[in-house]
Amino acid sequence: MYFPRYRARRTRKNENLRRMVRENHLRVEDLIYPMFSAFGENIKKEIPSMPGIYQLSIENLVEDAREAYELGIPAVLLFGIPEHKDPLGKDAYSDEGIIQRTVRALKEELPELTVITDVCMCEYTDHGHCGVIKDGDVDNDSTLELLAAEALSHAQAGADIVAPSDMMDGRISALREMLDDNDFSYVPIMSYAVKYASAYYGPFRDAADSTPQFGDRRSYQMDPANRREAIREAQLDVDECADFLMVKPALAYMDIIRDIKERFDLPLAAYNVSGEYSMVKAAAEKGWIDHDRVVMETLTGLKRAGADLILTYHAKEAARLLQE
Ligand code: PBG
Ligand code: ZN
Repeated sequence: MYFPRYRARRTRKNENLRRMVRENHLRVEDLIYPMFSAFGENIKKEIPSMPGIYQLSIENLVEDAREAYELGIPAVLLFGIPEHKDPLGKDAYSDEGIIQRTVRALKEELPELTVITDVCMCEYTDHGHCGVIKDGDVDNDSTLELLAAEALSHAQAGADIVAPSDMMDGRISALREMLDDNDFSYVPIMSYAVKYASAYYGPFRDAADSTPQFGDRRSYQMDPANRREAIREAQLDVDECADFLMVKPALAYMDIIRDIKERFDLPLAAYNVSGEYSMVKAAAEKGWIDHDRVVMETLTGLKRAGADLILTYHAKEAARLLQE
């Protein structure tokens, strides 16, 4: 192939040709919509750094989830903002916890919608860390017990998939064993397998009110500089029988998405996190970028990198754009 016999521009000549040679497609089935369930009634509080995303009380959350489902989005991911926080994050594994009540309401109103729950302690602990504190750091093995209890309690409330985001070692085994021992062998685990200690989570921590009160998460989340370690993290979760793998954040880690895709055959999700969303919104507000095109380019780029599924706050917007 050489110029001028070969001309790469030939197949770009018009939209039909471009459609025919298009290699990757974003589909509404690929989207998962993250939502924030807040304790109380009549709450619809916009997150200042995430225009269009709200903390919602249960009745409002159900309506927003209905809208997403009617747009064709198959699944939502739930985060909870409890009434009380304490050192052991009791609301996380209480029958009457915010997530448990939200899941029951969703399954009642929208039984077909797939409800994924984020399994972590940081939204429920008063110190804002993802587990139990011992000697100034998160203690791995005692945290596993709480996470397993949390996952079980989500499953009992009706969660379709549990998604641990804590980055403790051994958590997939701990959750799998707890679920299997309690007749939930068919509840899949979506593992936040490769999760970096990222500044891109900033807006989320406002949304979920989960900023650590001391220190940071670098003793459990991964160093952004590491690539081979991502393979090891994913391998562990595959061995412990995770059903989905996830890479998070997405945009600064597209090489990692590609690495994991090539090495493992589990369904792979990419989390287009809060800070990635906020940057698009801010630049669009300033009139510096074309919002809709940037959203679709970003999500299509994640598919091209190897993501099968994308967790994104843009889910409803993207679903609408796909209908056009
Ligand atoms: C909880 C959790 C976080 C996110 C998802 N689950 C925050 C964190 O680890 O600090 C981030 C999501 C986002 O930024 O959109 N462990
Ligand atoms: Zn956490």
